[in-house]
Amino acid sequence: MAAAVAEPAAKTVFRLDGGDATYAFGVNEHGELQQLYWGGRIASTDAVAPAEAEREWASFDSPYNNTPQEYAGWGAGLFQEAALKVTFADGNRDLVLHYVASTRPDVHSIEVKLKDIHRAVTVTLHYKIDPDTGILARSATIENGEPQPILIEQAAAAAYSLPPAHYTHNYLTGRWAGEWTLNSEAIHGGERVLESRRGTTGHQANPWFAIGKGDADEEHGEAWFGALAWSGSWRITIEQDQLDKVRVTGGFNPFDFGYQLKSGETLETPVFYAGYSDRGFGGASRLMARFTLAEVLPQAPHPKPRPVIYNSWEATGFDVTEAGQEALAEKAAALGIDRFVVDDGWFGQRKTDNAGLGDWYVNQQKFPNGLKPLIDKVHSLGMDFGLWVEPEMVNPDSDLYRKHPDWVLNFPGRPRTEERNQLVLNLARQDVRDYVFGFLDKLLTENRIAFLKWDYNRNWSEPGWDQVPVAEQKQVYVKFIRNLYSILAELRAKHPGIEIESCSGGGGRVDLGILHYTDEVWPSDNTDPLDRLTQHDGFARAYPAQVMLSWVTDSPHGMNNRTTSLAYRFLVSMEASLGIGANLDKWTEEDTSTAKRLIAAYHGVQKTVVQGDLYRLISPANGSEFTATEMVSPDKGQGVLFAYVHSTQEGRGFPRVQLLGLEPAATYALSNIEGHTLPGTPAEASGAWWMRHGIDIDLRGDFQAAAFRFDRK
Ligand code: DGJ
Repeated sequence: MAAAVAEPAAKTVFRLDGGDATYAFGVNEHGELQQLYWGGRIASTDAVAPAEAEREWASFDSPYNNTPQEYAGWGAGLFQEAALKVTFADGNRDLVLHYVASTRPDVHSIEVKLKDIHRAVTVTLHYKIDPDTGILARSATIENGEPQPILIEQAAAAAYSLPPAHYTHNYLTGRWAGEWTLNSEAIHGGERVLESRRGTTGHQANPWFAIGKGDADEEHGEAWFGALAWSGSWRITIEQDQLDKVRVTGGFNPFDFGYQLKSGETLETPVFYAGYSDRGFGGASRLMARFTLAEVLPQAPHPKPRPVIYNSWEATGFDVTEAGQEALAEKAAALGIDRFVVDDGWFGQRKTDNAGLGDWYVNQQKFPNGLKPLIDKVHSLGMDFGLWVEPEMVNPDSDLYRKHPDWVLNFPGRPRTEERNQLVLNLARQDVRDYVFGFLDKLLTENRIAFLKWDYNRNWSEPGWDQVPVAEQKQVYVKFIRNLYSILAELRAKHPGIEIESCSGGGGRVDLGILHYTDEVWPSDNTDPLDRLTQHDGFARAYPAQVMLSWVTDSPHGMNNRTTSLAYRFLVSMEASLGIGANLDKWTEEDTSTAKRLIAAYHGVQKTVVQGDLYRLISPANGSEFTATEMVSPDKGQGVLFAYVHSTQEGRGFPRVQLLGLEPAATYALSNIEGHTLPGTPAEASGAWWMRHGIDIDLRGDFQAAAFRFDRK
């Protein structure tokens, strides 16, 4: 590490350049750290003017309040969102952070130390810009140098500011089986709060935002975007202040927060990633996807495309048996499936969701000889084996709960609210952490398991932790999640090659924090293909298709009682990481041959689909009857186009599709992925032709789909 730069540093300007973005901030005349510029990359020779605090606005808004600070302490009359709010042991609650020193570990990173003007509370701000995408990683380390403890009541990872302008804010909300709804609204004065108070990420809002300026749209204009890497209670606020500036602040959710920091202790915030695109919202999601693949995922920078899995949850429910699973495994292998996953029901006394969670021994009635015969069979069929677990939960009807009723989150003497007949183990406790790590480690040591589907089927209630002093009990919000991450990290280190899916009753735990330790996520328990189209669209705004699992399941689908063809269901799931969750026992020979053909075709385009650049040519959001999604490999060697029709009316045809992102001068050969010809369309043409002239797809009726590939010659 480079040596600390000595103060005073008023007028110092810090600058980070990466990708097509520049981020600059500096120390103003008061000693506050102030954002100066965040936008398109400027020339290295361009000077960014030093910081000068905003002026006072009459006697109501002080310079401290009006200045776009990088990390403002709550004090000195701050009415905007504070990055940090503390109570000192003597009752003082005023915190004013001024610049102290900085280091520049490398050209892409800066560490800045701030300190309260009187007290020994310091904050080290960490900045790192990705040279490829220009995405910033920002976080903070708060240290208590006071002799007495302090109570942290609010701690953000970072605050990002934008100058006054007309902006549109995009964000994702949902519910169980209805995740990934895209919302878009103008930013006006006041604050929009996106949050989870649930102890986990949640289905109801995802810690992601995108903000477009003026008339920015899918492919044009300026957009700023970001995502918080935290799987506990979180909050992002988007605030337009009294001078029309916009400030985005993200970090721990301050609701019920209260982290006691003893003398000499530190608290690390999560990382709040954020970036800039001059290619609209489409450009924003392409940058996020590229960055996540290269920098966030456990297999970064070159994650392997996901194996095509089979999982019988929707077909068999809890009724998993050795014979039944072996029969399904034979059928799955014949389709070209890579991985066979046994879902819920294999352990303890698990027949329904009433019992068994916590007892991670193999159920003898269902698997009299343990899992080994099934695992061997799966391997002999050329697939690897995956298993479902829900490690942080316990059913009251379990041996574990009977032995350790105190292990769950609870307030002594108060009711323990059950959801799905289960309680949440307090993973913040060391003994619970040891138990969870211990059983998972044993499972992986004793069995040839390539993959864990890690489920989490409820949110918190009564989040008490009475084994530690009262002043430390609220640390549960942080320590639970840190222990979750540390278990995942330790398992991966001890069992190299293990792959993990983050599932939480569908998409309840999808964020860049968990994605640092897990290879994929289950976006939703809703596998209805039409619903999935909009879910894929919302999901891929924030996360790459690589991590978005999508199963082909049975029709009619239980969610909407909708009947769709197998080919349609396949083509929907093929725009993500493909899996099969249908009851193969009911498939006809024709179904089997459709599946074989499409799985083979998928392998030919998978890398482009899940790791390429995504273009939402026609988004299904807002109820469009047509959808067209295109992916282009990073070297522009292959393009893939999916087209879907919900339900045509009045004979209206599919809009002409002009591709994007190909190399204009290169020649691309067109092939059909699924039996759909394009009369009058050349078999090969230049990228310019496909992008400028475009193609007409004759797709009419209800729930129709087509897919094409374009290979550079
Ligand atoms: C919820 C998951 O999202 C489903 O896929 C399935 O694994 C069930 N839990 C099992 O209980």
